[in-house]
Order: sequence, then C-alpha cells, then structure tokens
Amino acid sequence: MKILITGGAGFIGSNLAKRLVNDGHSIVVLDSLLRGNKLDKITYSKVEFIKGDTRDLDVVISASKNCDIIFHFAAVLGVDIVADNPVETMDVEVIGTRNVVEAAFINNVKKIMYASTSGIYGHSAFESVLTEEVLVDPRTSYAMAKRYNEIYLASHHQEKGLNVTSLRFFNVYGGNQDTRMVVPLFFEQAMENSAITVFGSGNQTRDFTYIDDTVEACVRLMNINGCHIINIANEAEWTITELSKQIKEITQSKSEIVYLEAPKKRYDYEVERRVGSSEKLLSLTNYKPATSLPEGLKLIFDQNYSN
Ligand SMILES: NC(=O)c1ccc[n+]([C@@H]2O[C@H](COP(=O)([O-])OP(=O)(O)OC[C@H]3O[C@@H](n4cnc5c(N)ncnc54)[C@H](O)[C@@H]3O)[C@@H](O)[C@H]2O)c1
Repeated sequence: MKILITGGAGFIGSNLAKRLVNDGHSIVVLDSLLRGNKLDKITYSKVEFIKGDTRDLDVVISASKNCDIIFHFAAVLGVDIVADNPVETMDVEVIGTRNVVEAAFINNVKKIMYASTSGIYGHSAFESVLTEEVLVDPRTSYAMAKRYNEIYLASHHQEKGLNVTSLRFFNVYGGNQDTRMVVPLFFEQAMENSAITVFGSGNQTRDFTYIDDTVEACVRLMNINGCHIINIANEAEWTITELSKQIKEITQSKSEIVYLEAPKKRYDYEVERRVGSSEKLLSLTNYKPATSLPEGLKLIFDQNYSN
C-alpha cells in the first residue's frame, strides 16, 4: 500500500515508518521538522520525504496523492510546550486535521488513522481502569483539540463513509524519544548522575506503552475498516517515583530523586491516576501491548546507553 504519515519524522511516526517500509509498503512522510528528524538513515533513504506543514492544504493534497491510508500524527506536544503555545497547538490539530480530511476526499483516500491521546480522559475516572466508554474530561488545549478531532473524524464516517480510527495512546516511550517526555528526561538525568526531578508527590500514576507494541497495534488496526476509538495501553499502573527508581537502577546511577512543586501551568496535565484498558484493541486485533515497563526500559538502556 501507499501510506502517508504526517509527523512521520517524529518519535512514533518514525518508528511506524521504519516498520511499514520493512513490511514492503511505499511510505510518504510529511513533517515540518519542528522537532528535528528522528527517521534513521536507512528508513529516510527509503521514504518519500516532504518537508511541509499540515496547515498548508496544497502540501497535504500533494503528499496524499494515490495513498490508501493516512496516519495523521503531526502535532505540537510536550506539556511545557503546549502550556506555553495553546493557540498553535490547537491550530495544528484543527486546521491540520481538516486539511487531512479534505485531501483524503480529493485524492480518494479511504482511511485515516489519527493519533489521539489518553490525555482526553483528564481528571475523570480515578477509580477505574479507563475504557473507551468512560466519560472524557479534556481540560487542556491539546486534549480539547484531540477530542474535537475524534468527533470531527467520526462525523465524516457517519456522513460520507470515510474509515476513521482514533488511537488513544497512553504514554508511549522508546529509544529515539526526546526529553520533552518523562522517560528520556529521567534517562538523561540518570546518565549524567544529576538530580532526577519528579513533580509533585511522585505518587501520580501513568500507563507506559513501549514503542514497538504501539507500532504493532497501529499496523494491526490499519487493516480494520469502520469508525473506531481505541486505547493503546499497557494496562499497568506505575507511579512516577517507581519509574524514577527503575531508571536509576537500570543505569546504576548515583542521581538523587528530587521532588519539586509542579509549576502552576502544569496543573491541568498533572492527573493523579491514569491507566488504560486495551480490551477493545484485543477484541479487534487479537493483540495487546505486552512489554512491561522494566522490560521496555532495559531495551532502551541496552540499545542506547550500554557499551
Ligand atoms: N508520545 C506519546 O506518548 C503520545 C501520547 C499520546 C498521543 N500522542 C500523539 O501521537 C502523535 C505522535 O507523537 P510523538 O510522540 O511522535 O511526537 P513528536 O513531537 O515526536 O512527533 C510529532 C511530529 O509532528 C511534526 N509536526 C508538528 N507540527 C507539524 C505541522 N504543523 N506540520 C507537519 N508536521 C508537524 C513534528 O515536527 C514532529 O516530527 C502526536 O499526534 C501526539 O499528539 C503521543
């Protein structure tokens, strides 16, 4: 198949591009390179790379010509970046997605796979594992725009039969991620033996999903038609303190774990508890993420930091 990945030079997109190239697909990457290029050299040489912005309709139309599927992953993300740039965050989400849908109709692309987020659950449902049926509670520009796009895409399925899947990723982590995210940040701090900085009590939990599992789920789901919203979660709950201790142990770091008050602008992102159910993913694909956090962290260490 011919597949466009917007944001394909980013962390998840670059890993997906590598996998799809290896599977024999013809891949187009559209990325503004806002965060540099995470495609490895071999994959980069095998994809058609277009440097451009999803907010430019002409670029998206030209990038999606003759494509069978669009993975729409281009986004502004990272808690501090989004908190400082809410308008740009929403612009990229809303205008970018509108352009992707318009280009899909112009080029007769039948399917859009959209990167949504577990962030849209917000502060809801502390008491339970999050299923897709839980009432969502998006409070940030980022989460609000992601939820808007889930509904916007579903509407195009309802009215025009476009196949749309919104993927609610739960804290994806892996080797070529940058320090906007907590796992690579803690690795960097641990490797430098500098303080590992935890915001708040450290008792807040997250569900960490290893990159290869995330890519596997994306690949399996791209064969399914219809209109779906699907969690991609590891179904395991880890506190941020546990995460910091795991990384400290794997790296044999001398770092101290230091607790800091979270800056006010982070409040809406500082959810106390988040763990997802992948039952729906399992029922649709016969697959769910299985790499445990310690296993995933060890893989990152072995691939990037051990001699
Ligand atoms: N990493 C996670 O844990 C996570 C969790 C939930 C959702 N997501 C979503 O998954 C997708 C991929 O995330 P990621 O971790 O790979 O992030 P990333 O920042 O590494 O990748 C995003 C890519 O989009 C590109 N981009 C940004 N604005 C653009 C624009 N206007 N036009 C074209 N390209 C643009 C960036 O240059 C970057 O390469 C995003 O939509 C993100 O919101 C990620």
